[in-house]
Amino acid sequence: MIDAMTVTKRFGRRIVLNGLDLKIGDGEIIALMGPNGAGKTTLLRIMSTLAEPTRGDVLLDGKSVYDDPVISRRSIGVVGHSTYTYDDLTALENLRFFWSLYGMPRKEFEAAGKALLQRVGLSHRMNDRVAVFSKGMRQRLAIARAILHSPKVLLLDEPFSSLDEKGNEVLAQILAEERSRGCSILIVTHDVQRISSLADRAEVLVRGKIERSFDRASIARGELEAGYRASSDGGIV
Ligand SMILES: Nc1ncnc2c1ncn2[C@@H]1O[C@H](COP(=O)(O)OP(=O)(O)OP(=O)(O)O)[C@@H](O)[C@H]1O
Ligand SMILES: [Mg+2]
Repeated sequence: MIDAMTVTKRFGRRIVLNGLDLKIGDGEIIALMGPNGAGKTTLLRIMSTLAEPTRGDVLLDGKSVYDDPVISRRSIGVVGHSTYTYDDLTALENLRFFWSLYGMPRKEFEAAGKALLQRVGLSHRMNDRVAVFSKGMRQRLAIARAILHSPKVLLLDEPFSSLDEKGNEVLAQILAEERSRGCSILIVTHDVQRISSLADRAEVLVRGKIERSFDRASIARGELEAGYRASSDGGIV
């Protein structure tokens, strides 16, 4: 379980997050929505230790992720705006690099890495340098990299945006599988339709706080779609 507790983030005089609380249980998929500039990426960066909050804390299974960010990252997978992959390495070499960075057993890499590339539909290009990859291919590799170490927490920032239809199906399948092994998943998205079939809960971030929350039943009733549209101002601060 990951628990963002009264997280406040200021950039100079601008308060972007204002005492925000967000909890994701084991085996839960939460959608984080909200207008442009609302602070979604900022929150995701804070939860993944890439940025620190001005006030508040993020607990992973009861322990602050900032106590030792390097160790914390072994339990967190991130799909962000940057793919965090190396252009000069092949797809397989990229995964091998992160595998050893996470301290995973070397002998097990070959089979695990290839299986993962197969899962994201890149096995026929595994020996190509990432420099020649298209945007969607890079995104598929970023997804493979994010789940390589079977993290306890998966944080994804607009992961559907550069994927084709097949890629989105693959991602939905992966997220369902990660959920069933108990992973806590946060997906930042504007895509109401796509998230409606996946999320256990949707939270709408407006003016630095979670303004509205929709459970599975209310999402199924179409309330998220109407509610999200109503919240689409109140973003850029
Ligand atoms: N490093 C930074 N320095 C100063 N301001 C920042 C920084 N990072 C983010 N901000 C500000 O924080 C606010 C929230 O930005 P953020 O990227 O978190 O929004 P978002 O909800 O992800 O929006 P979008 O839907 O457009 O991706 C914006 O006003 C932005 O200018
Ligand atoms: Mg963003």
